[in-house]
Amino acid sequence: MKKLLKSLFVVSLLFFFTGLYAEDGYRLWLRYDAVTDQKVLKEYGRIIKGWVVEGDSPVLAVAKKELQTGLDGLLGKSVPEMSSPARKGIILAGTPDGSPLIASLNIEDKLSSLGKEGYILMNTRFRNKKVLLIAANDDIGVLYGIFHFLRLIQTCESLKNLSVVSSPKIKVRLLNHWDNLDRSVERGYAGLSLWDWEELPHISDHRYTDYARANASVGINGTVLTNVNANALILTKDYLPKVAALADVFRPYGIKVYLTARFSAPVEIGNLKTADPLDPAVKEWWMEKADEIYSYIPDFGGFVVKANSEGQPGPQDYKRTHADGANMLADAVAGHGGIIMWRAFVYDNNVPDDRAKQAYNEFVPLDGKFRDNVIIQVKNGPIDFQPREPFHPLFGAMPETPLMPELQITQEYLGSSVHLVYLAPLFEECLKSDTYARGEGSLVAKVIDGSLENHYLTAITGVANAGNVRNWTGHPIGQSNWYAFGRLAWDPYLDSGTIADEWIKMTFSNDPEAVKIIGRIMLDSREAAVKYMTPLGLHHIMYEGHHYGPGPWVSRGRKDWTSVYYHQASTTGIGFDRTSSGSNAVNQYFPPVREMYENIETCPENLLLWFHHVSWDHRLKSGRNLWDEMCYLYHEGVNDVRWIQSEWKKTEKYIDNDRFEEVKTLLEKQERDAKIWRDGCLLYFQTFSKKPIPSDLEKPEHDLDFYINHKYTDIPGIR
Ligand code: GCU
Repeated sequence: MKKLLKSLFVVSLLFFFTGLYAEDGYRLWLRYDAVTDQKVLKEYGRIIKGWVVEGDSPVLAVAKKELQTGLDGLLGKSVPEMSSPARKGIILAGTPDGSPLIASLNIEDKLSSLGKEGYILMNTRFRNKKVLLIAANDDIGVLYGIFHFLRLIQTCESLKNLSVVSSPKIKVRLLNHWDNLDRSVERGYAGLSLWDWEELPHISDHRYTDYARANASVGINGTVLTNVNANALILTKDYLPKVAALADVFRPYGIKVYLTARFSAPVEIGNLKTADPLDPAVKEWWMEKADEIYSYIPDFGGFVVKANSEGQPGPQDYKRTHADGANMLADAVAGHGGIIMWRAFVYDNNVPDDRAKQAYNEFVPLDGKFRDNVIIQVKNGPIDFQPREPFHPLFGAMPETPLMPELQITQEYLGSSVHLVYLAPLFEECLKSDTYARGEGSLVAKVIDGSLENHYLTAITGVANAGNVRNWTGHPIGQSNWYAFGRLAWDPYLDSGTIADEWIKMTFSNDPEAVKIIGRIMLDSREAAVKYMTPLGLHHIMYEGHHYGPGPWVSRGRKDWTSVYYHQASTTGIGFDRTSSGSNAVNQYFPPVREMYENIETCPENLLLWFHHVSWDHRLKSGRNLWDEMCYLYHEGVNDVRWIQSEWKKTEKYIDNDRFEEVKTLLEKQERDAKIWRDGCLLYFQTFSKKPIPSDLEKPEHDLDFYINHKYTDIPGIR
């Protein structure tokens, strides 16, 4: 028996250390497996002998736990907690206020500009002994510093000349969950909502803690629990204790809870006859509601509001403005330190001449009319999270009002949890766009980090892709989009490549070859999707309803919900004319951006059909006419997926079998469905261009009817 137990133990150890156990993706990028490079491991062993985190608070308690788990795992041995740096090689973490040891180092100067959340990592000496210092002004900064420190080890960075000084460039860094109270998730492709409303406020799921850890590890400091298409019930006594229970779990990780506010709540759950924001009884109702919420959750963050958009109620129902609505709610939460994130994604009941212009038209006249604790939440582009859009013209156009970008991490228009699409390049493209609002260099990133117009309130949000499937996001690579969003929220000037490398090392392997291969795949993946879905600035040509597959033929129903409204294909050409001879949406941009888009010669080709209606015979830079170029790009997109497939095969020897196989299988589906996009779109557009698909390109497998009638039966979240 003893012998059997012993051999079982040895086998399990073997499994543990060789990484042969199932790698199901649950641990995200916080895997903390022992460093495999023996030289590097030895070096860390020499440098790190123990750790001291001085101070006592719920935040520091989780910080200690994280440091302990991280170090023990990564170094493959127990790294002792100590009471003081009595020998060299001790990690010393804390704040000058909470730790006499840190106070004795006189580092206040170094911390002075870092605010509550910033931190420093450096090598220094304590009583002449070398220590690794993690210091911050506040406990939450210590937790962030610890995550950064662990990341350095996870990515095999040297700890010798540490001189990290980091603080977030944006104050409020949020995930928006589009989660409903029945646990369905709007545009969610990774199972059910994480929030188990039936079971709450009882907490039995360690996922809540792991969710908070994952977010804190990248600096996300808030979560909006509920769908923008809001349900007023979340604001009732039945739900508030449940919300409070989640807030209690998240608090030690520096994460505040926010909710969506249904504008008609005073009528729906308050028995009032109106929700008119200027009605004293309505104001009073929201004041009392806010007081009630804060009695459950003293650090409640505030509300996100989708009003007068896609049928949602709002102030315009009472002939009031967005500012009237936002300010009324802002007054209700102001005394408690809450904020209102008022969405500019407006889509009203009248069909506009160009939907791309609507948000700008409605919001620019309201610039300067919002309370200080209101911020306008603007999607990255003027239509709706398309594979490629120009940046939203509101960025830079409301200098008196803080604006925050809303990015979509969940892949509503980019292949749900089936397609491998690394979204950081899309996010980066928007953040680094130059609005020219104050001349050259007025990047979107500068608008939203407050530096362009000196705004105090700054925020950013990402529509979450996490659900209750075991690996959180469905597609293993989908995790990178959550990670990348968090990193960009902390620092919107980071580049996609750096973020990808970090994530790959933490999530898969530090092997340089693996990092190179997976990195190339990730960086290529978004452009591949653009090419097989919507090349050359095409947009909103997806399948009606679920948005997964192509649907350029969609023409029924409300005009600006159809595809034909957006692509305007005819026998003479294709594309939406947004120049001064068309809808003049270009006029919403500052010069010289306006002129660049207006002129067909200077308009970037990847946005050509966004801004121009172009003849099928128009010559492009490649020398091809528009039709041929479109054919080649659609084919290139599919070929890129095939290239990704063959590259992915090379990773087999570097990564675990579970995730290798999972991605491989998903790529097969992606290739299948990329072809459906390509062939469906080309056959449909060919009915207008009347030109042949160039003979050196693959022929479509089916006729157009096949694609029009195609139903998807094996895509998560798609019925
Ligand atoms: C898109 C999406 C909707 C969502 C809306 C929004 O239109 O398809 O599901 O509600 O955006 O952002 O409000």
